[in-house]
Amino acid sequence: GIDPNFDDNREHVGEENGLDVWGPVDPPEKLGIHGAHVAVDYDICIADGACLENCPVDVFDWVDTPDHPASERKVEPTREDQCIDCMLCVDICPVDAIDVDAS
Ligand code: SF4
Ligand code: F3S
Repeated sequence: GIDPNFDDNREHVGEENGLDVWGPVDPPEKLGIHGAHVAVDYDICIADGACLENCPVDVFDWVDTPDHPASERKVEPTREDQCIDCMLCVDICPVDAIDVDAS
């Protein structure tokens, strides 16, 4: 699953759509972690969709990631500033691709 200490263990390599990106990034195979308060490891996400469908405040949007080995789309935590720390997405993801920093 996602490393909950990614902000210490990974390099901040820039921003995409206003969200922090944590490397290593080498597209299309390696896409890194996107977000900060709500962070999604794009290299783990298999596009299950349960997070996006069940988030009570609609934090996530789909983004296309053609030729990524795990899935051809990912959930971007586009509205991570709206997150209410319910932890549903963290608990529901079958591959533990999401970390929410509720502290
Ligand atoms: Fe949405 Fe809850 Fe996940 Fe925050 S913790 S992104 S509110 S499902
Ligand atoms: Fe991806 Fe997990 Fe959501 S696989 S689409 S982060 S439920």
